[in-house]
Amino acid sequence: MATLGDHRGLAPTAPPLPTHTAQTMPLTALRDFVTAVTQELSPPGATAQDEATLLAAVRPHLARLLASDDWLPDELAQPHAQYYQQYLLHADPLGRFSVVSFVWGPGQKTPVHDHTVWGLIGMLRGEEIAQPYALDDAGRWTPQGPAARLLPGDIEAVSPTLGDVHEVRNAFDDRTSISIHVYGANIGAVRRHVYPAEGGRKDFVSGYSNAWLPNLWDRSKETV
Ligand code: FE2
Repeated sequence: MATLGDHRGLAPTAPPLPTHTAQTMPLTALRDFVTAVTQELSPPGATAQDEATLLAAVRPHLARLLASDDWLPDELAQPHAQYYQQYLLHADPLGRFSVVSFVWGPGQKTPVHDHTVWGLIGMLRGEEIAQPYALDDAGRWTPQGPAARLLPGDIEAVSPTLGDVHEVRNAFDDRTSISIHVYGANIGAVRRHVYPAEGGRKDFVSGYSNAWLPNLWDRSKETV
């Protein structure tokens, strides 16, 4: 019989460890994305990258993340009956980027708003429609050009240099849509703006819909 302290007996008597679980395996896709973006922001010897270079570098990593639809935990894919949801998936400790799942309930839409930092928006499930806005000659924000309809796998960029103001909605009135966003800041803490139809602008800080993050870092059940 094993006695207290006889921990060395663990290996021969314990059941074999699973190689993975349903939870840890899909999260490798998100962890790989987070790792890749971190690396793109930390090239050896470099202190900064211009926005266009960075967006071009991050885009294929996001495309890879969108290529599978088995990794987003159900808890971070839940719509709310009244409000669209923004769940934080990861925040860079240095505040250089964040990743969120944006979950649209049927028929939900944003106000006209900005971001103030670069962002890539990739469609995971369903579809969304994004209408760009620009200042007209009278100094009012008005729709500019055609709306973009994002299908699964599609990626759109926003930034103060590319065009930062838009209005976005779920393309569907009868089902949930989900997009995955990566921004060049801890987006939930950024002071941003909404642009009401009557003119002017109002500050807002979006925050996040979740209080807890998915555990990307438990690699104990992987074969390494
Ligand atoms: Fe937006």
